[in-house]
Amino acid sequence: MPDIHPITGTIGAEIVGVDLKAPIGDAIADTLRSALWAHQVIVLRDQHLDIAAQKRLTSVFGDIMQLPYVEPVENDPEVIAVLKEASEQKVGVFGGDWHSDFSFLENPPEGSVLSAVEVPVYGGDTVWANQAAAYEALPDALREIVDGRDAVHVGKPYGVKHAPPEEARTGGSIRMTRGDPDADREIRHPCVVTHPGSGTKALFLNPIYTTRLDAMSEEESAPILEALYKHAVRPDFCCRLRWTPGTVAVWDNRMTMHYAVNDYDGTRRLLYRTTFSGAPPA
Ligand code: SIN
Repeated sequence: MPDIHPITGTIGAEIVGVDLKAPIGDAIADTLRSALWAHQVIVLRDQHLDIAAQKRLTSVFGDIMQLPYVEPVENDPEVIAVLKEASEQKVGVFGGDWHSDFSFLENPPEGSVLSAVEVPVYGGDTVWANQAAAYEALPDALREIVDGRDAVHVGKPYGVKHAPPEEARTGGSIRMTRGDPDADREIRHPCVVTHPGSGTKALFLNPIYTTRLDAMSEEESAPILEALYKHAVRPDFCCRLRWTPGTVAVWDNRMTMHYAVNDYDGTRRLLYRTTFSGAPPA
């Protein structure tokens, strides 16, 4: 049986003793799913998955999603290359802000899988923050504001608020379609969502895409959202992953936010990302 080693007391676990290149049987699939429920982020080292194996792993958690607005790899609309070339310096990166993936969709991904191909010797970590822990520790004054309230999400920045501008691109880093009215319209999700399996409640706000709280203007919402974001990413709710080639991470996109640390200028970093769907946030 696989061993599960928590990374922190709040979020993240490394799973040892599973070869994801082999067919994933029911018992291993159950272990992976329950580890994800329990730890929100699971990490498996030395896997070196090809795309077919990554998609098999992704299907363990849900139906693979084809994401709109972001250019997939050639020949596979379900896979994104998260790439920063060594020549892309002093520019932002995809995911280089606290966020959950694509919360501006009516049904945002339930989770994502990242598989590392080429990573810097140091730097380029990913950090996740457990939003269930953040909700549990929320001060009463903020809890009263978010409980039972929706937040408004808009896709205008399309996940690349700090990504390289078109003219600074040198290589294959992510390309996004912009100016699509479908992505730019307001979508409402509850500020607090409930995990469909465990019943755990979590904050579901997004510093990139949440523009305001329902029944409030952007100006009224701004200081409240600032306080919520500051609380939501307290280091006690976080784990940080040091990537090595072949490492795979799976995360719950409704129960966490994540942040791609951009501290590796001059080094190439390439990971493949797939996403899976679930029931809409409730
Ligand atoms: C992402 O936001 O999915 C990218 C994370 C990373 O590159 O570490």
